[in-house]
Amino acid sequence: MQKMMGILQTSVYALLGVLTIVLLVQAQDQSGFISIDCGLPANSSYSEETTGINYISDAKYISTGESKTVPTEFRATKQQQLWYLRRFPSGTRNCYKIKVTSGTKYLIRASFFYGNYDDQNELPEFALHLGANVWETVKFTNASISINYEIIHIPPLDNVQICLVNTGSGIPFISAIELRTLKNTTYITQSGSLSRFLRVDMGNSNLTYRFKNDIYDRFWLPILFNGWMDLSMTLSPNSLSQNDYQPPAIVMSTAATPVNISGSFDFYWDPDNVNDQFYIYMHFTEVQVIPDNETRAFNISLNGDYWYGPLSPLYQVTTTIFSSKPLTGSTRYLFSLYQSWNSTLPPTINAVEVYQVKDFSQSDTDQDDVDAITNIKSTYGLTRNWQGDPCAPVAYMWQGLNCSVSGTDPSRIISLNLSSSGLTGEIPLDISKLTMLQSLDLSNNSLSGSIPDFLTKLPSMTVLNLAKNNLSGSIPSELLDKSRAGSLSLSVEQNPILCGTTSCNQNGNQTEKKKKNNIVIPIVAAIGGALVLLLIIGVVVCIFCGIGKRKPPAAGKVDMEPSTPTASSFEIKNQQYSYTDLVKMTNNFDRVLGKGGFGTVYHGFIDDIQVAVKILSASSVQGYQQFVAEVKLLMRVHHRNLTSLIGYCNEENNIGLIYEYMANGNLDELLSGRNSGTKFLTWEDRLRIAMDSAQGLEYLHNGCKPPIIHRDVKTTNILLTETLHAKLADFGLSKSFPTDGGTHVSTVVAGTPGYLDPEYYISNRLTEKSDIYSFGVVLLEIITGQPAITRTHEKTHISQFVGSMLDKGDIKNVVDPKLNGEFDTSSVWKAVEIAMACLSHANAKRPNMSDVVAEIKDCLAAELARKRSHLENENKDSIELVSLNLTTELNPVAR
Ligand SMILES: *[C@@H]1O[C@H](CO)[C@@H](O)[C@H](O)[C@H]1NC(C)=O
Ligand SMILES: *[C@@H]1O[C@H](CO)[C@@H](O)[C@H](O)[C@H]1NC(C)=O
Ligand SMILES: *[C@@H]1O[C@H](CO)[C@@H](O)[C@H](O)[C@H]1NC(C)=O
Ligand SMILES: *[C@@H]1O[C@H](CO)[C@@H](O)[C@H](O)[C@H]1NC(C)=O
Ligand SMILES: *[C@@H]1O[C@H](CO)[C@@H](O)[C@H](O)[C@H]1NC(C)=O
Ligand SMILES: *[C@@H]1O[C@H](CO)[C@@H](O)[C@H](O)[C@H]1NC(C)=O
Ligand SMILES: *[C@@H]1O[C@H](CO)[C@@H](O)[C@H](O)[C@H]1NC(C)=O
Ligand SMILES: *[C@@H]1O[C@H](CO)[C@@H](O)[C@H](O)[C@H]1NC(C)=O
Ligand SMILES: *[C@@H]1O[C@H](CO)[C@@H](O)[C@H](O)[C@H]1NC(C)=O
Repeated sequence: MQKMMGILQTSVYALLGVLTIVLLVQAQDQSGFISIDCGLPANSSYSEETTGINYISDAKYISTGESKTVPTEFRATKQQQLWYLRRFPSGTRNCYKIKVTSGTKYLIRASFFYGNYDDQNELPEFALHLGANVWETVKFTNASISINYEIIHIPPLDNVQICLVNTGSGIPFISAIELRTLKNTTYITQSGSLSRFLRVDMGNSNLTYRFKNDIYDRFWLPILFNGWMDLSMTLSPNSLSQNDYQPPAIVMSTAATPVNISGSFDFYWDPDNVNDQFYIYMHFTEVQVIPDNETRAFNISLNGDYWYGPLSPLYQVTTTIFSSKPLTGSTRYLFSLYQSWNSTLPPTINAVEVYQVKDFSQSDTDQDDVDAITNIKSTYGLTRNWQGDPCAPVAYMWQGLNCSVSGTDPSRIISLNLSSSGLTGEIPLDISKLTMLQSLDLSNNSLSGSIPDFLTKLPSMTVLNLAKNNLSGSIPSELLDKSRAGSLSLSVEQNPILCGTTSCNQNGNQTEKKKKNNIVIPIVAAIGGALVLLLIIGVVVCIFCGIGKRKPPAAGKVDMEPSTPTASSFEIKNQQYSYTDLVKMTNNFDRVLGKGGFGTVYHGFIDDIQVAVKILSASSVQGYQQFVAEVKLLMRVHHRNLTSLIGYCNEENNIGLIYEYMANGNLDELLSGRNSGTKFLTWEDRLRIAMDSAQGLEYLHNGCKPPIIHRDVKTTNILLTETLHAKLADFGLSKSFPTDGGTHVSTVVAGTPGYLDPEYYISNRLTEKSDIYSFGVVLLEIITGQPAITRTHEKTHISQFVGSMLDKGDIKNVVDPKLNGEFDTSSVWKAVEIAMACLSHANAKRPNMSDVVAEIKDCLAAELARKRSHLENENKDSIELVSLNLTTELNPVAR
């Protein structure tokens, strides 16, 4: 490396706006172009004089902001699209929404020219977002210098949102937005989008080139080096054989070469951050006719290490050398082009592009959710500042919304609060498309019409507030059922003509008296018919479980009175089925899913929904009592990690329970791999399952008042959905117990061998710690893939097996060999430690479920960190160079 000849920085782009005299080489069509002149009066358009590009007004892409122009003295050297601008004095985030073809590669450019348009002579600074992600901070150096930012991006949705965000340092504005489609074979990244760092035309030009010279309308900046010599030739687009990158012929017609023939051509840049990732594209062509007795051949090095070569560019043929993996981890990237041994001519280079990877990892919001909420916005004519991605960046989430924002998965809207928003008309159907909605608040508006049925179809809805409107008709019975079961907090008061029952459509005035009731959830009182009878058997009534938060009644009393005066006015419809229904549902008990502690479980359908039907074995008296217990519990316990009860049947000797169907069966089956075709569980899967189960148990112990002991925690009682979401099942043995005594002496020792707390077995004293012991066994099974009691003739308990391995310091042989070493060792160690702590003989030494949940979270974090760094390491050996296959480039591209 002889000389450091040039420092290339993004700031060279600041010069861009002044260079506008462009040679028009030949007509190019503008298909794939979207050219928007921001601030241009609505409906107007023009063809820019120097480029011939057709610009249109931005009015149809945005409804906020105001149009301004820069004074004439600033316009002289600028292309016309920079004369107008749109500024956004109100609202934090204002967004353009532009229709695109999802999955297509676009070059997106945003241009800004201040030009003292507001006569304040103060350069603003603000943020530029692309959808849910931060793109750039827009900063100016000089009022008369325009700037632009470019990104090569594949939009995942059928629109892109370009947002101007006020960060408190001046009023955001924008001058022009341009989108150009690119070939998908070019600028390929392993991940992320490419932000232009620099794009330069080497050689003796002093002009900036763009369309029509460049069919993709990239901006090519001239760059002049001291100590470099320029080579050039006349090169018409037709005589240059192109590759897919298609650098313009006019750019390729000039090249730079070292003045000192035996010297090297060096250039470098310094990243802001050592972890920044870059892709480089170098374009070469031979611009001289080389005599037979001469050779031009050179190698390229990066930071002194051989990178590519030898390269002998072909005459009038474009060769592009690019990094196929990102360059990262350096404080400086120094490229040197130096002569190879037998070369008689110095190296040359025609053009260079460098891009920085923008990790746009924040997913946009789910398209259906976006469409629905956008329709709701327009239906109600909402004037709130609802712009850009509804959910992200989180700091700019739409007011009144809440979302689940995970990063890699599309964000989903989970809560919508439009209370006191002056809404009129009916509740719009679009709400039904927000399928992940958990909470909907439309209270204190002037909504009319009936409460639509679709509100009953939103599977996750737990809070529905329709109070203080003019709704009419009756409340859909399914909503009432859910509310009664405690799975929905429903408010409908102060709807003067809304009928409280399904049968009072004619004279709806009886609801007057319920004005004062906020939430109508008659948990106990509303359960009618046979169930009420069953409930009388119970002693302790749990009121705190589920969603509704109410005060517990005096301990030991059965609360049989309607808890609110209105409760009795609701029509009572239980999810009760006859035995004949069960026969139909299960196709005459055709398919057995499994055998539980006190009955057989069958597969069935209610309408098109799959269910699991548990039929209690008729003879078992104990089973009967457990059934009662289970119904009671399931009616009031609702949690994402506990199986839900859909309905039941209670006809003399035929007692059945209908549960949600869990597609992936139970954890025992999955771990044992007994059934062919079962899913393989990675360490991450296992930790997530452990976490789900632990959270379900924690809820029983800490979320319920009084707490509930499961009493039969085991792998066959952990059921899995299609997506391996785990839920605890079988509350048949669970039993509420009062908190004050701390312990409870029960009469029957119940549980499953292998999982049973030895202390409980001896003392008959039941505490939450018994569940924790069982959970420890489950956790060891998850780690080892072994059953609780080995199936060998010795019948060793899993804790002894693991204990003896640990004594030998043999962690490797503890772990399920099926995992094949694919796990973070510290994560496994920690999981083993948790399990062993749960299995402590003295139950005082066992952790509680909240501790266990926290520790498993740490295990999961460690494993996720391993996976991330694993990915990064794969990306590290990134200096693999690829030259375009020249054989495909030799045919001149017809234009
Ligand atoms: C633009 O055109 C549309 C339809 O042609 C018309 O309704 C609208 O009023 C026009 N706007 C302006 C500002 O001329
Ligand atoms: C801004 O740029 C113009 C022309 O490029 C120059 O004349 C002027 O001095 C610059 N102003 C500042 C404050 O740098
Ligand atoms: C480019 O697009 C074509 C069709 O549109 C597709 O067949 C091809 O797989 C894509 N190539 C890449 C690298 O994405
Ligand atoms: C560009 O260079 C040419 C000669 O190479 C010169 O005549 C012209 O004035 C230069 N233009 C600018 C804007 O510097
Ligand atoms: C030209 O480069 C060679 C090789 O690096 C060096 O030895 C020589 O001194 C340089 N000549 C001049 C005039 O700089
Ligand atoms: C190649 O030949 C030309 C004349 O034919 C001569 O001037 C030049 O020095 C030769 N170059 C080499 C490397 O021999
Ligand atoms: C250029 O690279 C080739 C291929 O690796 C190598 O054989 C040659 O020695 C290199 N030339 C120089 C001058 O380093
Ligand atoms: C340089 O070496 C290459 C291959 O190694 C050969 O094709 C070429 O003819 C050589 N050039 C000269 C001038 O010796
Ligand atoms: C409902 O009650 C209000 C006042 O209490 C009365 O004006 C109205 O006529 C009643 N409507 C019906 C349908 O009975």
